[in-house]
Amino acid sequence: MKTLNEAWAAVNRRFERKLSSCYQQADVEPQARLFEAMNYSLLAGGKRLRPFLTYLFCVACGGSVADADPAALAIEMIHTYSLIHDDLPAMDNDDYRRGRLTNHKVYGDALAILAGDGLLTDAFRILVEGLAPEKAAACVKVLSENAGPYGMVGGQVLDMESEERALTEQEVLDIQSRKTGCLIRAACEMGVLCADGSDEQRAAARSYADGIGLAFQIRDDMLDVTGDAAKLGKAVGVDANKNTFVRLYGLSKCAELVNKYTATAAAALAPMKKTELLYALAWLLAERDH
Ligand code: IPE
Ligand code: IPE
Ligand code: MG
Ligand code: MG
Ligand code: MG
Repeated sequence: MKTLNEAWAAVNRRFERKLSSCYQQADVEPQARLFEAMNYSLLAGGKRLRPFLTYLFCVACGGSVADADPAALAIEMIHTYSLIHDDLPAMDNDDYRRGRLTNHKVYGDALAILAGDGLLTDAFRILVEGLAPEKAAACVKVLSENAGPYGMVGGQVLDMESEERALTEQEVLDIQSRKTGCLIRAACEMGVLCADGSDEQRAAARSYADGIGLAFQIRDDMLDVTGDAAKLGKAVGVDANKNTFVRLYGLSKCAELVNKYTATAAAALAPMKKTELLYALAWLLAERDH
């Protein structure tokens, strides 16, 4: 069996080709500059964690890699749009992302907002064009629930509104599970849907996603303090006034919590088969440095 890193690299090589072909012809459009701005952030690298999860769940439920392509593309488009908007001056006001200047630093705030809007909307076209109608409808439901006001966008608003006050543990968990957990959950659940998986498999995918989603954001907050900007491709030390897990618990309790939530995620895979890579991925993410 391929090691996890080999499998991730192989999936990414294929995925990068798919992603770069999405807007290949777009330079003939009158709004070519919009597509350039969308591609600027979309093709800037990034770990491609969410698409990898979609592929792994699809394959674990008996589907093929190709079955998951539309959902993998759609989730990465939504994630990239969320990063473009998250970095805007009116939000986190960050200058670097994925090892390059943020979208608004290159294209200006207005085009960066519209590049995000473009990616957000087009994700749903990709799903509907690429999947059979029933699967497309199920994926649109999962993706819109998790990306929209009930999910990631809701979490971003709570995160923003809470900057000025100290939060309880439960409030921090509620914010983080929406802001970061929801897109990870959509990635995993759509993987199951693309393979026509069972309700039991969907439930397992949701619990796994909830565990790694929390561990992922705790690790993100830890890396803002202990990480290396060059490896991360984004600035560190920018969350000082935020309600991060580090502010709430301190670094060593955070490390314990990453292990706890990763173990919950790993245990959630028990009712599924062919989960070696998903299991190894959860533990790799717990120790990630970028
Ligand atoms: C960054 O996500 C935003 C968070 C949810 C913490 P990633 O760390 O997955 O960013 P990329 O896709 O690799 O750039
Ligand atoms: C971002 O959380 C989550 C979303 C983009 C939805 P952060 O603001 O912590 O992410 P980074 O640290 O800028 O990547
Ligand atoms: Mg933010
Ligand atoms: Mg940010
Ligand atoms: Mg962060």
